[in-house]
Amino acid sequence: MPELNVVTRDGTLRTIEAASDVSVMEAIRDAGFDELLALCGGCCSCATCHIFVDPAFAQALPPISEDESDLLDGSSHRGEYSRLSCQVMMTPALAGMHVTIAPED
Ligand code: FES
Repeated sequence: MPELNVVTRDGTLRTIEAASDVSVMEAIRDAGFDELLALCGGCCSCATCHIFVDPAFAQALPPISEDESDLLDGSSHRGEYSRLSCQVMMTPALAGMHVTIAPED
């Protein structure tokens, strides 16, 4: 299984195993990180799964949809590498990626 490196809000880095058929949100949630709320369960309507992705992997990520971008616009923490983790599926190409859980809005 590909590994995913997750940085929490207090800066702690933890490496988790992520199946390649789940979203990054599901991988983080299933690994027990309770600060990633993912309140809508992954249907792109809450933005509580906001992460910052590793710039080195930006090209390997799926393009951002209009809905995802609109939701991220509602965050005061949106940055160049912001994504909603429920909209990014784990693939072998993302093995080793670092993601940082965004501050709570
Ligand atoms: S879990 Fe709600 S938008 Fe991602």
